[in-house]
Amino acid sequence: MNLPNDAAGQEDVRAIISRHAHREGALLPILHAIQADRGWIDETAIRTVAHALNLSRAEVHGVVSFYHDFRTRPEPRPVIKLCRAEACQARGSEPLAEWAQSRAGDRVAIEPVYCLGLCSVGPNAMLGDDVHARLDQASLGALIEAL
Ligand code: FES
Repeated sequence: MNLPNDAAGQEDVRAIISRHAHREGALLPILHAIQADRGWIDETAIRTVAHALNLSRAEVHGVVSFYHDFRTRPEPRPVIKLCRAEACQARGSEPLAEWAQSRAGDRVAIEPVYCLGLCSVGPNAMLGDDVHARLDQASLGALIEAL
């Protein structure tokens, strides 16, 4: 994960913006991509996005604070992103997520993510850069315990 105001981090933000800026309604995809890439959306990124999309900082900040998916501070706990999209849901990701959150308590954040591109081998989760497939209580519990 990049530090919030480092030059490389801002380069990442600019690269994300250039990938999405041509789209209609580019703001949300850009914010989701920054959140996914960096884990949170800092003030510098908000300013960079506002400038690139010709929006006010308050407009971008308003969107960031409206959606619970976006975080303006780093998550201090380890984060397991458990896929909640359709194919993983059909394989039980919802009850697995509930179980995982109760198992993890306050020690590990269990967050939703919507499709990791491995739909045929779900339920899937992401921990750091690693994708874990075919999760069940035993394998997900082992991941949680290892953190
Ligand atoms: S639906 Fe979970 S990886 Fe695609």
